[in-house]
Amino acid sequence: MICLGIEGTAHSIGIGIIDDQQGTCTIRSNLIKIYRPEKGGIHPREAANHHALHLADILKASLQQAKVRSSEIDLIAFSRGPGLGPCLRTAATAARALSLSLEKPLIGVNHCVAHLEIGRGTIPECTDPVLLYTSGANTQVIAFAEGRYRVFGETLDIGIGNCLDKFGRSQDMEFPCGPKIEQLARQGTQYFDLPYSIKGMDVAFSGLLTAAEHYARQKRRIEDICYSIQETAFAALTEVTERAMAHTEKHEVLLGGGVASNARLQGMVETMATERGARFFVPAKNLCVDNGAMIAWLGVLMHKSGVRMSIKESIIDQRFRTDMVEVTWRD
Ligand code: ATP
Ligand code: FE2
Repeated sequence: MICLGIEGTAHSIGIGIIDDQQGTCTIRSNLIKIYRPEKGGIHPREAANHHALHLADILKASLQQAKVRSSEIDLIAFSRGPGLGPCLRTAATAARALSLSLEKPLIGVNHCVAHLEIGRGTIPECTDPVLLYTSGANTQVIAFAEGRYRVFGETLDIGIGNCLDKFGRSQDMEFPCGPKIEQLARQGTQYFDLPYSIKGMDVAFSGLLTAAEHYARQKRRIEDICYSIQETAFAALTEVTERAMAHTEKHEVLLGGGVASNARLQGMVETMATERGARFFVPAKNLCVDNGAMIAWLGVLMHKSGVRMSIKESIIDQRFRTDMVEVTWRD
């Protein structure tokens, strides 16, 4: 079965085409175009306009790269939420139009669950992980329990990526700022105290951001500030992930989201996993960030398990929570 997936929850518009052969996920193409605001954060309407402008070209290029004719597509999947309304609506409208014109079924999927399933789909040894999902807007620790993907811990304020981007922007770094902060942090030698906020299983980053900006105003060495941000924030994330693993008695940990490409975060989580005798997995970088292939793969899993969605039912949901999804494709 060939499925085309459209991702459009926030700043990225992505189209991926995947081929499912008896449960094996082969990615035929996975193209992404990122909206980069000239100044400040993402303006939802402008991001949506960007997506609308580039959708047709990405669609064409994705089909070409996959060497798939539109008539060969069996299923159209799209990101139903959570995300920014105008962006979600743009991707959903494109998916509905494709579904109607190609006369192929349509399926709307949960973006956060897609991050987890693409890890399971492309890493055969990864079967029942705790997912540490760290992106711009989202920071969640997710695992399967009693028929659903449950959120065991999450940020109480901003996502970790958003924290990094906000700090970077205050220091005139180019968006997305995570990679630059990672690079600077490698040259850090001195640790500055920053708020380490864990409440139960949840984390918070706005206090850390304020304190880091304060150090910057005091003209402390930027490399040391970046180093301190990473050490503090990633330690908190690793701690809640470990607690979720202990609680659920799971022996695998999977990373997802744009921040998962950070080598220091990977290192900390891997060390924690090794010390627990658990296994550590991180998907390829282009599958960690928001992408169409993960949407397509979850679409396939849902469709094969019998889920069907009419155009009428395909309305977007900006607050589509991970645990609202009935997981029909797992025992
Ligand atoms: P979502 O809609 O799921 O919240 P998103 O729109 O933020 O996701 P992603 O592509 O998953 O998109 O993640 C982007 C984030 O990842 C940005 O905040 C960026 O700064 C961060 N990031 C990217 N590379 C790195 C890195 N090497 N280290 C730290 N952060 C990184
Ligand atoms: Fe994401």
